[in-house]
Amino acid sequence: MKTSLTINGTEHQLDADSRTTLLDALRNHLDLTGTKKGCDHGQCGACTLIVNGRRINSCLSLACMHDGDEITTIEGLGQPGNLSDLQDAFVKHDGFQCGYCTPGQICSATAMLQEVKDGWPSHVSADLTGDVDLTNAEISERMSGNLCRCAAYPNIVDAIRETAEGRK
Ligand code: FES
Ligand code: FES
Repeated sequence: MKTSLTINGTEHQLDADSRTTLLDALRNHLDLTGTKKGCDHGQCGACTLIVNGRRINSCLSLACMHDGDEITTIEGLGQPGNLSDLQDAFVKHDGFQCGYCTPGQICSATAMLQEVKDGWPSHVSADLTGDVDLTNAEISERMSGNLCRCAAYPNIVDAIRETAEGRK
């Protein structure tokens, strides 16, 4: 099945079985291996990427459903020598150990910070709007879809909070 995907600003023509997930399309057909496969059924968040501004688990979505979509992967957020502020903060705060969950954490947090800016509520703070002072509890709640087997959670939260504060 032919599908047109714009990934990190570049258009790709995918020709793959209609059952191919977006995650497998990236990793196995387009050689974009930054997005990781953990559980492959929507439980760990390792495969998180950003589609049309929203974070999704790419293991749960078929590539053919994304014809014409704008997709951002970890490769599109920054490169060595030109990291995003959030990526820099992960380095500074040791927001990883093995690093396997890190691309998903960073894609998820990138979209999450935009959700906060856009005033999306969470279960912790039901009426957030605009300039939000992100507490650790708030960040943990909003990042609860991304698991880290190395339990680098405190450092991940520190990195995200510092990034949010730096963008004020
Ligand atoms: Fe997609 Fe775990 S690999 S949620
Ligand atoms: Fe190892 Fe998160 S750094 S799983």
